Amino acid sequence: MNSRMTAMVRVAVCVCAAAALSTVGLAQSAPAKLTIDTQGAGKPVSPTLYGLMTEEINHSYDGGLYAQLLSNHTFRSNWEGVESWGLVRHGDAKAEAKMDKSTGPSDALPTSLKLTVTSASKGDDAGVSNMGYWGIPVHARTIYKGSFYAKTDGVGPVTARLISDDTGAVLAETTIAVDGDAWKEYDYTLKVGAATASAKNHLELMVAKPGSLWLQLATLFPPTYNDRPNGLRVDLMEKMAAMHPHFVRLPGGNYLEGDEMKDWYNFKETIGPLVDRPGHQAPWSYWSTDGLGLLEFLEWTEDLHVEPVLAVYAGYALKHDYAKPGKDLEPYVQAALDEVEYATGDVSTKWGAERAKDGHPAPFPLHYIEIGNEDWFDKSGSYDARFAQFAVALRKKYPQYKLIATTPVKEKQGAEPDVIDDHYYKSPAEMFDLVHQYDDAPRTGPKVFVGEWATRSGSPTPNMGDALGDAAWMTSLERNSDLIVMASYAPLLVNVNPGAMQWPTDLIGYDAEKSYGSPSYYAQVMFGAAIGSSSPHTEMEGAHERFFYSVTKDEKNLYVKLVNASNKPEPLAVELKGLGAGAHVAKTTSLHAASFEATNSITEPETIHPVSGTARFTGTKLERTLAPFTIEVVEVPLR
Ligand code: AHR
Repeated sequence: MNSRMTAMVRVAVCVCAAAALSTVGLAQSAPAKLTIDTQGAGKPVSPTLYGLMTEEINHSYDGGLYAQLLSNHTFRSNWEGVESWGLVRHGDAKAEAKMDKSTGPSDALPTSLKLTVTSASKGDDAGVSNMGYWGIPVHARTIYKGSFYAKTDGVGPVTARLISDDTGAVLAETTIAVDGDAWKEYDYTLKVGAATASAKNHLELMVAKPGSLWLQLATLFPPTYNDRPNGLRVDLMEKMAAMHPHFVRLPGGNYLEGDEMKDWYNFKETIGPLVDRPGHQAPWSYWSTDGLGLLEFLEWTEDLHVEPVLAVYAGYALKHDYAKPGKDLEPYVQAALDEVEYATGDVSTKWGAERAKDGHPAPFPLHYIEIGNEDWFDKSGSYDARFAQFAVALRKKYPQYKLIATTPVKEKQGAEPDVIDDHYYKSPAEMFDLVHQYDDAPRTGPKVFVGEWATRSGSPTPNMGDALGDAAWMTSLERNSDLIVMASYAPLLVNVNPGAMQWPTDLIGYDAEKSYGSPSYYAQVMFGAAIGSSSPHTEMEGAHERFFYSVTKDEKNLYVKLVNASNKPEPLAVELKGLGAGAHVAKTTSLHAASFEATNSITEPETIHPVSGTARFTGTKLERTLAPFTIEVVEVPLR
């Protein structure tokens, strides 16, 4: 069974705690009536409607999806010292550790940590330790692979050890024959045998002789998704796969832009060997190592069997500086052309060849390129001309791709956007009010990408009230999917450790060791698994105002999504016009909680979870009663 299937089955077999949702015992009012034309062609539903959006925020990559376990793996220092690294002296060992700005293994990493040992011996060794991102998770019978760059004046070998913080027990140890005064890369493997799963561990790199050791770029990886070297965290990838996404919008968000012009997402500094990646200042208050760089982004889409929606930097920084359209903007336009070539060019092109050199000769599929992010913040009005300059150049070289503008632009010949990216961050009440936003929107002109949306009240992850707002919103996305081609919730990921979060409501929470899905996450899993290809004609009578629904279908099934966001049960009589006579068995999946505030957390990850069931009915009449605070997907076989 592949990992994608594992995640899906996990949802399907969840305990049936809420199985009585559709039955008796609840105060009944007259049923609302939903009539569905099961046979008509209906309006199209975009095959790419649901996707993912992430960026480096809340330690989404470093300390999150990027499986690298060592934090500050490039030994960056500030006035407080070298963050995450400590000096270790066992017994009578004498040593100090300081940054050496005069030597490093590459132009990108020109400095190093110098360990100077004046006294050490076996048992009384000295070295440095790394505490990971809020700990280093260790699991029994697991192999961890690492590497570091080093040079010495003869102090080697280096011993690498994984050590329990609580007991001091050595969980795994290996010795690496480090020698020579030239920079070299060394690999090591740590094999953990019996151990209790825990994140309360650290890594030590130790020597047992006097002398000097210079270190740079130290890594340690657990097994990764699809066993990719420099790869991604398995549990988070499985959670994404279970959402049935169709794209990943990358690399941001504000992360694309940076606070200042110098902090822009320059893909050329995020590719190739890690030792050639300097990292860059990200806008969400911390440094991005770019260990998860453009190629890793693209391989992530490949592993999820989805496409990237590639956002290119459009010459605007968050603190409102921008490159003037014309000559000043040209280098950024060229970078965008190069970036698209890196992703899609064949190996005969300059950047396609670069991608092949980086280990991926096959081009990646692409249909959409987004120019910038949230350029309505640019009050100078430069976006019209910036967008036009990018659009003309991109269309000339790549007429096959659709271009997304981040705000409406005054159209210029040859520079009309194909799609506009709209963003919505709302409270539950605001989201319920927003569900008719696109019902009467013009169907001529650009299509819509809802590139960021979320209902926000819970923290660090959404609660059931937020999930109800999200589900209500998704019914409107589906109903209007002839116009809305793609939509992605944001932000997707949050490390829930103290100090890790910058944005208070995020879909999936995790610490170093484990992760959990919020009620909103499960709502998306349920909707994403039942997308359909068209939206048939429906009529609803008599439902209360906090009841929402959408209906889609494909060749096999009709998918009825019902959202009761009120504190009263909603009895519902569904007339399935055109459905055959005789007995039918529908599959149901329900998400329910006792209150708006109810939620999941890192310690109680499954309080709210989808519950599978069946609904048997005869002919065209299906009856359901939705309990308060309930989201339900009913899948009716059409054949
Ligand atoms: O999703 C968090 C931030 O919200 C994104 O970086 C930005 O595009 C939006 O303002």
